[in-house]
Amino acid sequence: MSLTEKAYYVTGTGMNIPGLVSTDSTTVPGAPVVGETQSLVPGAAGTTYEIPHLNIPSMVLADGPAGLRISPTRENDNATYYCTAFPVATLLASTWDTDLVYRVGQSMGNEVLEYGVAILLGPGMNIHMNPLCGRNFEYYSEDPLVTGKMAAAMVNGVESQEVGTSLKHFSANNVETNRNALNVIASERALREIYLEGFRIAVQEAQPWTVMSSYNLINNTYTAESHDLLTKILREDWGFKGLVMTDWFGGSDPVAMMMAGNDLLMPGNPNQANAILAAVKEGGLDEKVLDQNIERILTVLNESPHNKGYAYSNKPDLEAHAEVTRQAATEGMVLLKNDNDALPLTSEMNQLAAFGNTSYEIITGGTGSGDVNEAYSVSLVEGLQSAGYSIVKELQDIYSNYAETEKENLPPQQAFMPRVRVPEMAVDSDLADRMAAEADVALITIGRSSGEFSDRNVEGDFNLTQAEKALIKTISDAFHAKDKKAVVILNVGGVIETASWRNDPDAILLAWQAGQETGNSIADVISGKVNPSGKLASTFPMKYEDVPSSDNFPGVVIEAEEGSDEGGLSSFFTPKPSEIVYKEDIYVGYRYYNSFDVPVAYEFGYGLSYTQFEYKNVKINSTKFNEQLTVSVDIQNVGDVAGREVVQVYLTAPAQKMNKPAQELIAFEKTKFLNPGEIQRLEFVINPLDLTSFDEATSSWTAEAGHYTVNVGASSRDFRETTSFDLEEELIVQKVNRALTPNREINRLKP
Ligand code: BGC
Repeated sequence: MSLTEKAYYVTGTGMNIPGLVSTDSTTVPGAPVVGETQSLVPGAAGTTYEIPHLNIPSMVLADGPAGLRISPTRENDNATYYCTAFPVATLLASTWDTDLVYRVGQSMGNEVLEYGVAILLGPGMNIHMNPLCGRNFEYYSEDPLVTGKMAAAMVNGVESQEVGTSLKHFSANNVETNRNALNVIASERALREIYLEGFRIAVQEAQPWTVMSSYNLINNTYTAESHDLLTKILREDWGFKGLVMTDWFGGSDPVAMMMAGNDLLMPGNPNQANAILAAVKEGGLDEKVLDQNIERILTVLNESPHNKGYAYSNKPDLEAHAEVTRQAATEGMVLLKNDNDALPLTSEMNQLAAFGNTSYEIITGGTGSGDVNEAYSVSLVEGLQSAGYSIVKELQDIYSNYAETEKENLPPQQAFMPRVRVPEMAVDSDLADRMAAEADVALITIGRSSGEFSDRNVEGDFNLTQAEKALIKTISDAFHAKDKKAVVILNVGGVIETASWRNDPDAILLAWQAGQETGNSIADVISGKVNPSGKLASTFPMKYEDVPSSDNFPGVVIEAEEGSDEGGLSSFFTPKPSEIVYKEDIYVGYRYYNSFDVPVAYEFGYGLSYTQFEYKNVKINSTKFNEQLTVSVDIQNVGDVAGREVVQVYLTAPAQKMNKPAQELIAFEKTKFLNPGEIQRLEFVINPLDLTSFDEATSSWTAEAGHYTVNVGASSRDFRETTSFDLEEELIVQKVNRALTPNREINRLKP
């Protein structure tokens, strides 16, 4: 490779965003966009250069976490290129079932392979630090263990198809507002224990082909330019062998990115290549660094189907994958409330009144790069009708007329941005009473759409609107007056407020955004065909103000005169330099609520079933910790129907030297389908690392001597069995590089 070829090879071929950015960068000022990526797989996010005389083919990279995102149609071509919209990551995490996530990954990976793409840009695995992050639906959980295990399963599933993945966004990319200029100030301990830990698990358990650096800065350095992050931590501490790429247009200085260990700048532009070329010529960048980065790209290319000449079909088995998504979705839906067994519907309950716009226009997933172009989606009423229910026609007509009129008043939908939705229709008590007389049960669906480039608002998004609350109340009252039930279905991508209205309905099913089969999957659960077994992988707080990062999120603007305030895509290219201090430190999610005794609406790990489980006979194989311990427990289905239970193991460590969260999840497992009366014994291994915290003084993972309590529970607040052990002497389990040290004091939260 000539030096010029090398400088180009570490940058992608560019990207064309139709209607937004022209190739000469005139549409959006300052947009660094050139070229396009249409020639191989239209709608893919990027490609690497082809170097024909060296027999180097290009590689295609495409989103994303809920399924492959490419254009469904092509110019001068009658064929279609639809992909399966799988459930969003938040739902997949709520299954707590790594085998199932693996199977979803297999199907997703098969579409990647059969559409001629080499690398899927996912899974997304940032921590749900705050419920308002617009991209939480793309991510798994507030807990790093759940996050890491889910991501590892997804990577292994996708990569079983001989295509690659990209763990993203590495790391601490927890805010969308000003995301390209947001400096995250965080302690080494919070970074290691919360924001990096999931990535560590996924890297070590799955060795993904690639990792994508994030947009933000950590402690004053862009992650894309951080040698500490991309080399010292990722490669030296964790042994990552693959390639690192930037997020699209991420980072600032191409030479610094090269030196940090960022191998591939995406989507790439010639200015970057020229800067790299000049730096090598002028001695500012050692050519050896470039060679190493190129070697990593070529190693991945070597594995890619492109290089192996794989003859992709452009015809993945979409029907089979629709079955996978339908079933997977039912496993991650969480039954939040079910008074007097309101669900499942009994066989006499046939006539259903479906309220809420979302019952008729279901939301299958989020927007932005996490979106998928699916061939169809099944609405709630369609799903119910296919399952044999009848839907009150009069109400259906009222909603359809309302939506038609209201849509005319909506502002235009901006490309890539959250869906513009019609406001909830007011239902007066006359209509409610009439429906209560006619129907057997009321279903009220509440929907939310969010996506990248913006965060959610508290009012009208995290909190329900007045119209939504009034709807739930009016309908519940009218149906209760006739001794009938009202069920709320939440078709949302992230956490919302429930405490102020949850007393009104009889049951609440958190259906999440469940992919293209959402309506069928919901029907499977509410009919009782599937017994719900999902549990929350993020806390539902009583109110937004209870969230420990609520007064910091989304950070503060530090140079107000620069950048755009408009939000959305235009501020993507001209963000305002901002910063956010992670003052809550390691107290994220249940680590905070449990340590500070803060009441929550529904805790981490919570979820109901149509049956009940008993936990008994907990045993630990030694009460002294010595290299490893095993905890085992019997789980018995003591109810009337078959079902599965998510069993969680929490550790309470001594906290003499270091402050510790009240509990930390160290293991989990979902039982198989247990018939009524059936028992399964589960075993959990406790390893030295599970006992540790990150000690900044010694840059090591250290376990304090003392007494440790193990709680086996149905949730983070429902412990059923307890055991304990002692560690006689302090244990330094692993020493790692000192890295990402903040250059100022952080006033950290402590119990
Ligand atoms: C997103 C990435 C995505 C990339 C390519 C960026 O805006 O942050 O998650 O993979 O675009 O579409």
